[in-house]
Amino acid sequence: MASMASLSASYPKYTSNFPTRYTHLLYDLCLVPRNPPLMKKGSFSDLTIVRSSNQTESMIDSTDKLSDIPLLSCLEAIEKLKRNRENNKGNQQYLAMYSSIFGGIVTEEAAMVIPMDDHMVHRGHGVFDTAIIANRHLYELDQHVDRIVKSATMAKIILPFDPGPGDFQLSPSGCHQPALYAIVIEDKSLFDSKGIKVVTSSIPMKPPQFATMKSVNYLPNALSKMEAEEKGAYAAIWLDDDGFVAEGPSMNVAFITKEKEMLMPKFDKILNGCTAKRVFTLAEGLVREGKLRGIRVDNVSVDEGKSADEMMLIGSGVLVRPVIQWDEQVIGDGKEGPITQTLLNFILEDMKSGPSSVRVPVPY
Ligand SMILES: Cc1ncc(COP(=O)(O)O)c(C=O)c1O
Repeated sequence: MASMASLSASYPKYTSNFPTRYTHLLYDLCLVPRNPPLMKKGSFSDLTIVRSSNQTESMIDSTDKLSDIPLLSCLEAIEKLKRNRENNKGNQQYLAMYSSIFGGIVTEEAAMVIPMDDHMVHRGHGVFDTAIIANRHLYELDQHVDRIVKSATMAKIILPFDPGPGDFQLSPSGCHQPALYAIVIEDKSLFDSKGIKVVTSSIPMKPPQFATMKSVNYLPNALSKMEAEEKGAYAAIWLDDDGFVAEGPSMNVAFITKEKEMLMPKFDKILNGCTAKRVFTLAEGLVREGKLRGIRVDNVSVDEGKSADEMMLIGSGVLVRPVIQWDEQVIGDGKEGPITQTLLNFILEDMKSGPSSVRVPVPY
């Protein structure tokens, strides 16, 4: 085995209790040399992480007992990636991925990978956006592109790329190969119109500077979704600092008030939803027909929201989804609202036969 890497750094003494089973895991991951005198069972002291400044050098100290983990060649690693994919097939189908690193498109799932030192991966410095392809057309492509441009500007990312792979540091100044990735996945869950339950999120929402950009930092969003699932709900709804209704973890929220007004929170502290804005435009037809009294974007109090006739979640992932219960409060008569259902039909129809401003043909 090659000699120890040229750089090493020491953690400050850290003695909090740590379950023994995890210390084994760390041994196996080679973060900790297998050197019993340095380790107390169940706790850390004098840990040393070895770090290489030279990719050809080994990360493992030759004087330490070697881990059971094999050292793989690149081809062996790729073979394992493939087998791993085959053995752990989930429900999700990944149809294709473009990577500027490859300079091409791959359809083999095992090859849909991102370099570990991409600033997006290890520092969360990246932006993303998601649009629907339906009926051989990309829905609202321009609107999603406009938003990713805005997000990138806010994240100081020079388009069309994220900072890309670099030197594993906090600053992106060492990232010299900007990267762009695009992935096409099959989503069968889009058109569900069954009413769902939501809860109020206890996870703090992102401050406006971060909530208004679609960066890859979705930890609060994921925790909020997990909280909802733990409580048997579909999504958790954030309230802003002033206690007004904000949004869900991957969707906007809208209401039909008792006065038959469509009401949605302002976009200044939340993500500017492409679907919500399109729903508003389509809802104008209902105003003209007299089925809605008006459309209003305003602060929405929790009381106002919970006492609404209808509540809905709106976004590319859910389209328009009726909410029939928020915390303990049944919304309206507890059934899927008729206006919500009409708006879902409008969006579905728009995806099929809307104007060219929202439908861009995809030749596949
Ligand atoms: C936090 C958040 N709010 C709202 C939305 C809805 O946006 P859109 O309708 O553009 O999908 C999303 C979806 O990406 C989101 O992640």
